[in-house]
Amino acid sequence: MQSAVFAKARRYVKDRNAASPPIRQHVSTPVVRSPLKWAGGKRQLLAALRPWFPREFTRYVEPFLGSGAVFFDLASSGQLEGRSAVLADVNRDLIGCYTMLRDRAEDVIAVLSELAARHKHEGSRLYYEIRDEHFNPARAAGESATPALAAMLIYLNRTGYNGLYRLNRRGGFNVPAGRYTEPRICDAEHLRAVSAVLRRPGVTLEWSSFDAVLAGAGDGDFVYCDPPYAPLSATASFAHYTAGGFGPADQQRLQQTVAGAARRGAAVLLSNSSAPLIEELYRSADARDAGLRLHRVPARRAINAKGDARGVVEELVVTNLRARTDVIPAPRMLRAGLRPATARRLA
Ligand SMILES: C[S@@+](CC[C@H](N)C(=O)[O-])C[C@H]1O[C@@H](n2cnc3c(N)ncnc32)[C@H](O)[C@@H]1O
Repeated sequence: MQSAVFAKARRYVKDRNAASPPIRQHVSTPVVRSPLKWAGGKRQLLAALRPWFPREFTRYVEPFLGSGAVFFDLASSGQLEGRSAVLADVNRDLIGCYTMLRDRAEDVIAVLSELAARHKHEGSRLYYEIRDEHFNPARAAGESATPALAAMLIYLNRTGYNGLYRLNRRGGFNVPAGRYTEPRICDAEHLRAVSAVLRRPGVTLEWSSFDAVLAGAGDGDFVYCDPPYAPLSATASFAHYTAGGFGPADQQRLQQTVAGAARRGAAVLLSNSSAPLIEELYRSADARDAGLRLHRVPARRAINAKGDARGVVEELVVTNLRARTDVIPAPRMLRAGLRPATARRLA
């Protein structure tokens, strides 16, 4: 009796797998997460984004890299095997940090483990010393990619307020210290794994604005754009990842650039807030003409100004791709408040 039940269950699983092979099947790549926390990082939204990852492409292009949640997810699930990747961001410290992790991981780890040891005794005093007496002066002197700067960025990211990266108008990094009892500052094995992912053949890092990166995008490319989100109301302010910010004119330029890439044959996926400006830009005849369609996805986000309360909000996904039906949203999406029917529709 029991064996009949098991046989039935095995048959069910076999049929189900045959109908919708999971994305990780036959893939033995270890899961490597980003070494950085990042405001607007897409780790929480991966389950909603994965159904749109295309099966066929030759080059992956991510012009707003940040912590690279989507890149690390693609690499960890074997979807970049035999494919190249262009990873870019306008943040020089960030690209310098990834470059140093790629090329001089052991030197970065050496400095970072020293900072981690000191932080245990000195706490936020060390944070301000590193920020004001070493990190900002080195940047002001024009340094960009050194193991020390990379280690300092990781240190400030792991111990600063909410892992934010924020610049004042003069370009100085001005995030205050965070309140963590035992922050995980240096995980050497993990940083070595990140280094190995970045050293894969065909992966390139560029310190560049999105326009230059997307100018050549077209047929065979999978382009994922995650720009600074447009604010949901006129009173909310734009995210200041850069000293200049990312305003409505930038969002409009991005829409034009993305539509251009889609017309040249690129598979495009873009995430943004559900601000009226973004709806207007991507519901326009111009965007529709380029094959772009807008979808709403639920996301867990900070819902108050201090960022310490979280709730489910709607965000937008713009794409010329069709959602795959073989990628099932993670259970966390269901726990985030999605009704099962909505979850099925998203899958
Ligand atoms: C929402 S974050 C990206 C988050 C990323 N997807 C992740 O998972 O962490 C937006 C990024 O765009 C970058 N950025 C801002 N203006 C830019 C521009 N003009 N060109 C390229 N990158 C830009 C910021 O430095 C920031 O890292």
